[in-house]
Amino acid sequence: MHSEIAVLPGDGIGPEVTAAAIKVLRKVADRHGHDLVFNEYDIGGIAIDRHGEPLPAATLAGCQRADAVLLGAVGGPKWSDPNAKVRPEQGLLALRKGLGLFANLRPVRPHPAALNASPIKPHLLTGVDILVVRELTGGIYFGDKTRDADSASDLCRYTVEEIERVVRSSFRLARQRRGFVASVDKANVLETSRLWRDVTSRIAREEFPDVRLEHVLVDSMAMHLLSKPREFDVIVTENMFGDILTDEASMLAGSLGLLPSASLGDGKRGLYEPIHGSAPDIAGKGIANPYATILSCAMLLRHSLGWEDEAACIERAVDAALNAQAFTNDLAPGGRGISTTAAAEAVIAQLEEHCYVADLRD
Ligand code: IPM
Ligand code: MN
Repeated sequence: MHSEIAVLPGDGIGPEVTAAAIKVLRKVADRHGHDLVFNEYDIGGIAIDRHGEPLPAATLAGCQRADAVLLGAVGGPKWSDPNAKVRPEQGLLALRKGLGLFANLRPVRPHPAALNASPIKPHLLTGVDILVVRELTGGIYFGDKTRDADSASDLCRYTVEEIERVVRSSFRLARQRRGFVASVDKANVLETSRLWRDVTSRIAREEFPDVRLEHVLVDSMAMHLLSKPREFDVIVTENMFGDILTDEASMLAGSLGLLPSASLGDGKRGLYEPIHGSAPDIAGKGIANPYATILSCAMLLRHSLGWEDEAACIERAVDAALNAQAFTNDLAPGGRGISTTAAAEAVIAQLEEHCYVADLRD
């Protein structure tokens, strides 16, 4: 029995970081005697160029057939004309929606070896271990949009059910962690946030009395993330707040290039991608940081394939590679880092050491 992974390299550095991550995945699969099949599809700008649309039907169908989806990044200056009819980003949004992936998990755990890469003082960072759960298929991202000569609008709408399902996911995850959920909203201004707060309070009271819940306003959370990040465990929030707060939170880890993500729905199938973008300024140079994508693969193995040992293996290997100062430019002092391929090789070399225990078991 093989497992199938749909690979969507996308634009910019997407193809480089996914290629690096697949090398690591192949190695782990080989080591553990698994058969992994990779099928590649177009998404984003390259799909617009080749097929005239950012999410071709064949891509969506391929993803629906696969056990999991690995995505690089979408977008770039070539396709960012504000008047363009289609944009690469629409492909990603349609894919998330099309696969019903309403919960986006973005763990933030600053690595001890990379603390100096963060603009935040190291003493605030030790012990930080946050899991942001971002609602991914609702809110202002998907509401009706209007535009005329002198005005524009974006509708932000949430249903009770959309809030319930993502909030439940966040409480379940908190139970496996430190049992604390901070729910982020703007209930002092927005009606959607007042609904969000009511629903979250009810779910907490009725279904998760063992989990501590705190409501935090988004502006205040933007500050707390920098002033006392260690105090948070699970943070659950709506789509756009989650987008913004996770870019901010990535600075705790030192680089956007270190943060993985998993987008999950009701079943096991998920979409795994680094939280960074296509980084057109460094695309094609072979210097992008592949760790976020490699760590996304660990999440893929854990959530979609149920391979916990293999996932942990990858995480330990990345950990060890960082401890050994296998830094790409974004992490290296003075920006003199190693290449994307060298970073993947560093992880593979560490796999040899750190998968030892799992090998014995097999
Ligand atoms: C992200 C990205 C996307 C988003 C873009 C590319 C549509 O910024 O995954 O965080 O806003 O969700
Ligand atoms: Mn984003």
